[in-house]
Amino acid sequence: MHVREADALLTPMINVKHLSKNYGATRAVAGISFEVKQGEKFILLGTSGCGKTTTLKMLNRLIEPSAGEISIQARKITAQQPEMLRRSIGYILQGNSLFPHYTVAENIAVVPRLLGWSRDRTDARVKELLEKLHLPREYANYYPAQLSGGQQQRVNIARGLAADPPIILMDEPFGALDPVTRTHIRKELVQLDEYEKKTIVMVTHDIDEAFEIGDRICLMDKGRIQQQGTAAELLFKPASDFVRSFFSGHYLQAALKTVKLRDIWYGFDAEPGPVIMTSDYSIWDAMEKMGDKNAIYVADKNNGKVKRIGKDSLLRLFSEYTATLQ
Ligand SMILES: Nc1ncnc2c1ncn2[C@@H]1O[C@H](COP(=O)(O)OP(=O)(O)OP(=O)(O)O)[C@@H](O)[C@H]1O
Ligand SMILES: [Mg+2]
Repeated sequence: MHVREADALLTPMINVKHLSKNYGATRAVAGISFEVKQGEKFILLGTSGCGKTTTLKMLNRLIEPSAGEISIQARKITAQQPEMLRRSIGYILQGNSLFPHYTVAENIAVVPRLLGWSRDRTDARVKELLEKLHLPREYANYYPAQLSGGQQQRVNIARGLAADPPIILMDEPFGALDPVTRTHIRKELVQLDEYEKKTIVMVTHDIDEAFEIGDRICLMDKGRIQQQGTAAELLFKPASDFVRSFFSGHYLQAALKTVKLRDIWYGFDAEPGPVIMTSDYSIWDAMEKMGDKNAIYVADKNNGKVKRIGKDSLLRLFSEYTATLQ
């Protein structure tokens, strides 16, 4: 690999150092530091008022910090014009953030227009995004008020993706939706071909969402980071009682989603059969697929080896495994 390419991979996409924001006596953000790697999905999780939105808005200079430093792609963001910076960072907000007097197509085209894209290129992109987000083509000419909340949220996501920015910031992007629609749209987003390579920072207070989307989770409280790490690290190696109690009511479900079949792969017998998933899926996924069957067949993605995953041994191995982690 060329040295410069290697550097690019090692340099974090986003680097936040000792960041603070005070509002009078309120320390909304109190000296936090974190890095987000290229392509990583980083979650800011925490209860209301812990400083998530303030942190997110400092990343694209909608809010200026009281202290600390942020670099994006190794450049300090204070050295960049806020307007230019924002064009390279998609921003997806919760709820009613579409422009009410713009059509769906015009809403999606906002950033491409600012970037001076041609009419044809913009139209083609709008059409492509409507398709990818399962919105009928004729919706292009509708106004936001003519759409349901879920459809508006899809347009919102399309708008954030429109100019194909390498970084996307999302603030409770599914917050205003009912749980079923919420899960649907979340799955759609994750399955988009463009999603994989994006560096994403997402704010949520929803533990399921954090675990499903996040490569790493940053749990905040009162403006400070309580712990950052993978879901498994937060769940099984909580750094404090705060972290432990934050996940306590959710422990089992979160653990089922966090532990992968490959973690307990050793305990199953090799046996050929109709494979329906790979071993990088979670225990939860396996249970969902199993339904009322007694077993499913799973392949190891690395060597193609197939094993039979029986319902009873699945749960027994899972509880043995989690017991060793605590
Ligand atoms: N413009 C402001 N002026 C004064 N205080 C503010 C301002 N914006 C935020 N705060 C305070 O800073 C703290 C953090 O707010 P922030 O919006 O970042 O929280 P949050 O984690 O996003 O919460 P939520 O989950 O409710 O959206 C809160 O105590 C809030 O009241
Ligand atoms: Mg907020």
